[in-house]
Amino acid sequence: MAPRVRSVEARGHFVFVRWEDGSESRYPCVWLRDSCRCPRCFLRSAGARRLRPQQLELDIEARRLLLRGGAQICITWSDEHTSEYEAEWLKERCFSEEARAARRAELFLPERQYWGSDLQLPKMPFEEIMCNDESAYKWLCTLKKVGIVLLTGAAARQGELIRLGHRVGFLRLTFYGPTWQVQDKADANNIAYTTGRLCFHTDYPVLQHPPGVQFLHCIKQTAAGGESEVVDGFHVSHKLKEQNPEAYQILSSTAVDYVDVGEDYCDFAVHCKQRIIDVDSRGQEIRINYNNATRDTVFDIPAEEVRPFYAALKEFDDLLNSEEHKFTFLLKPGDVVTFDNWRVLHGRRGFPASPEATRLLEGAYADWDVLMSRLHTLRRRLQGSTDTAAH
Ligand SMILES: [Fe+2]
Ligand SMILES: [Zn+2]
Repeated sequence: MAPRVRSVEARGHFVFVRWEDGSESRYPCVWLRDSCRCPRCFLRSAGARRLRPQQLELDIEARRLLLRGGAQICITWSDEHTSEYEAEWLKERCFSEEARAARRAELFLPERQYWGSDLQLPKMPFEEIMCNDESAYKWLCTLKKVGIVLLTGAAARQGELIRLGHRVGFLRLTFYGPTWQVQDKADANNIAYTTGRLCFHTDYPVLQHPPGVQFLHCIKQTAAGGESEVVDGFHVSHKLKEQNPEAYQILSSTAVDYVDVGEDYCDFAVHCKQRIIDVDSRGQEIRINYNNATRDTVFDIPAEEVRPFYAALKEFDDLLNSEEHKFTFLLKPGDVVTFDNWRVLHGRRGFPASPEATRLLEGAYADWDVLMSRLHTLRRRLQGSTDTAAH
């Protein structure tokens, strides 16, 4: 049901809207004027504001208010400009605390589910998410919520991740190429390109903006070893905070140097400083930046802080590797594991070396911005179709 306005009133720097259901919303005049939808203030084809801050009067007031059938409000301002607002548009922008919280929840959905060795690895058929919007939407929601989803039944050949990239929008190009082949290589330019064990890490903390999501497509799997391991970095961070707040404090505040120098897609020499547990202004974890292989030997902190840093790092690493926290599984040819590279750390067990490559994975990255954009476009499309069905 579209919301309807019962009455509207101007008081000082606010316009008060009383709704048919008895609730009230108040809108600051300067915001209303700034949000004018007329062609002079707003370019409809781009959905973009044309009005500039210089044209905006801070103390603007509503001179005349007109309510049109409960569905639209027309305001003539003290600068003689006239603006029109739809009731539904206003309702969606209500400034009340509850309305703002509800919108936040809807936008940043869904809430995270933390896990340890008890993870029930979510699985979905690859082709289903490729051609069915509902399945693709569910995949992206689960990826956001749990941090990992296994897609099954892709063809066991290179190129499937390029298709998956088109499905979400596009992949993230890095110095290792648009996609990269994980196999035992002579003179490996990356520790992943050997048969050795890979301890828990996130990929690419050496980039200022590390890839948000990683896709690993199993094309060939070795007969012995090569199992994949994953751990929920946010869950383990919480454990560390409980167990040793000082260690948590060190890892969430120390800028660690990372370095990667070599040649692949092109030659590269990248340096970056990252906190191993990155938190936002509210102290919430937003990203784990941990890769022991590319952690630089240059360490730009005072010498007396180095030993306490290592103590904290070892405690975090022990928690990552504890049986209680890690989850082990074996990728089969045709499996594509998709995971949140800002949250989930991954590793693999070693496997026997052999003259020809016995294990081959194709990997690719994508950014969370791209995946969240696809999640939101799919949601709009799916909601649109149920709306139509309901009418
Ligand atoms: Fe990796
Ligand atoms: Zn206007």
